[in-house]
Amino acid sequence: MKEMPASHAYRLLEPGPIVLVTTALNGKPNVMTMGFHMMVQHAPPLIGCVIGPWDHSYRALRETRECVIAIPTVDLARTVVDIGNCSGKEVDKFEKFRLSRLPARDVGAPLIGECLANIECRIVDDSMVESYNLFLLEAVRIWIDREREERRTLHHRGDGSFTVDGEVVDLSERMVKWRDLPA
Ligand SMILES: Cc1cc2nc3c(=O)[nH]c(=O)nc-3n(C[C@H](O)[C@H](O)[C@H](O)COP(=O)(O)O)c2cc1C
Repeated sequence: MKEMPASHAYRLLEPGPIVLVTTALNGKPNVMTMGFHMMVQHAPPLIGCVIGPWDHSYRALRETRECVIAIPTVDLARTVVDIGNCSGKEVDKFEKFRLSRLPARDVGAPLIGECLANIECRIVDDSMVESYNLFLLEAVRIWIDREREERRTLHHRGDGSFTVDGEVVDLSERMVKWRDLPA
């Protein structure tokens, strides 16, 4: 084994899939790319997200306390990277990247029609935002496009390269201790 910088832990552990986060501040929708997220609890479903104050989305999320986490697939790979390399402060990213805005049910932020799934979220705990830019969100509603053929998600390797979903290893029969997870 060779040593690698401890600061590169994220390159080994960064969770996937890469996601898009939509917000709407004063009625103006925006979208950013996010790799730093994790599930925290099954029920109610809680998701931890790191969104930095350098992002326009940070202000929108803090002020409106709601967002949508959209799950893109491999066909949107270049768009996903480009969305994460420009700011809603300067551009209307929905227009620039020709994304369809669909109305959400419980939050003001829009769903993205071109994504596989959209999770409507509300902040439940922002006590770690000042220290770690860490928002704890509750997923309040999920929409999924069951008709979609392309379902392979992208997993960020931390350096602008991505792993694309491949072979599925289904070991669900061995999950005997976890039969009672929420359906
Ligand atoms: C692959 C990728 C992953 C990213 N992950 C995050 C992240 O987890 N948290 C974050 O704050 N910014 C992340 N970014 C950066 C934001 O997407 C970027 O700063 C974006 O321009 C913010 O847009 P906004 O200013 O319109 O909110 C990522 C960017 C890319 C390309």
